[in-house]
Formats: sequence, structure tokens, C-alpha cells
Amino acid sequence: MNKELQQVEFLRQHAKQASQKAYAPYSNFSVGAALLMKSGEVISGCNVENVSYGLSNCAERTAVFSAIAQGYDAKDIATIVVYTPGDKAYAPCGACRQVLAEFLASGTMITSTSERQMRQWTIEELLPDAFEFDVEAFRKPL
Ligand code: THU
Repeated sequence: MNKELQQVEFLRQHAKQASQKAYAPYSNFSVGAALLMKSGEVISGCNVENVSYGLSNCAERTAVFSAIAQGYDAKDIATIVVYTPGDKAYAPCGACRQVLAEFLASGTMITSTSERQMRQWTIEELLPDAFEFDVEAFRKPL
């Protein structure tokens, strides 16, 4: 197995373990995500649902928000590996794509894994022409 695949497999194990902590009583779809930070640390997250379904948080966003809460900055993430249950490796939802676009350096690989499949994209492939704007320009009084 080459080095990159070994790293994916290592992070997949972290993501799968994190999926076991998911709070998913409504969908019964337990997802985990593992971030490899440029420092070498691994930070993981799981989906956390709510009875008001729309308030649910995906594993990817839990992991990214945890990294920020632990003091990391945007662009400190080297790669992200997601584990989704079953045969199919699911692609991240639209909300997660927008959040990942904010925190991943361009070209960062996003890997989705399952029991049978592995799929990989860059954030640009998942969310071309992502929304961004010059905050400072809009702060100036009109
Ligand atoms: N979910 C994730 O955590 N990550 C994904 O990439 C897709 C969907 C969660 C959200 C919800 O808790 C459940 O999976 C079903 O949509």
C-alpha cells in the first residue's frame, strides 16, 4: 500500500471510530470525519442531530468547528477523511462544502470512505465558484 493510501486508511479508522459517537436517532446514519492537521494531530467529529431536524450538524462541520475551538486556524488542515456507513461513500452535503471552502487551503483533498468504496475530490471540484467576498470593502460606510 502506498503512503497516501496508508494515511487514508489510518484516518478512516479515526473517522469510523468517531462515527460510533454520532447522535443520529432520527436518520440512523452515523457519520464520522477525521482531520489530519498540518501539526500531525488528528481531530475527529461525528454528526449530531436534533429533533428540529434542520439544526442537525454533520460530522465534517463538527470536526472543523472542533479544530477551530481547539485553537487551529483556517488552512491548518492537511486533509479530511469521512466515513459513511454502508457500501457507498457519500459526498459531503452543500452546507459542509461551503464550510470546508472557508477552512481548507485550495487543492486540499477530501476523501469519503465506506465499507466498500473510496472517493476523492478537491474542494474546488465539490464547490466550484464558491461564494466569497471582500469583507473590508463592504465595511466602509456607503
Ligand atoms: N451527514 C453527515 O454527517 N455528513 C455527510 O456528509 C452527509 C450527511 C449526516 C447529517 C444527518 O445527521 C445524517 O447524516 C443524514 O443526513
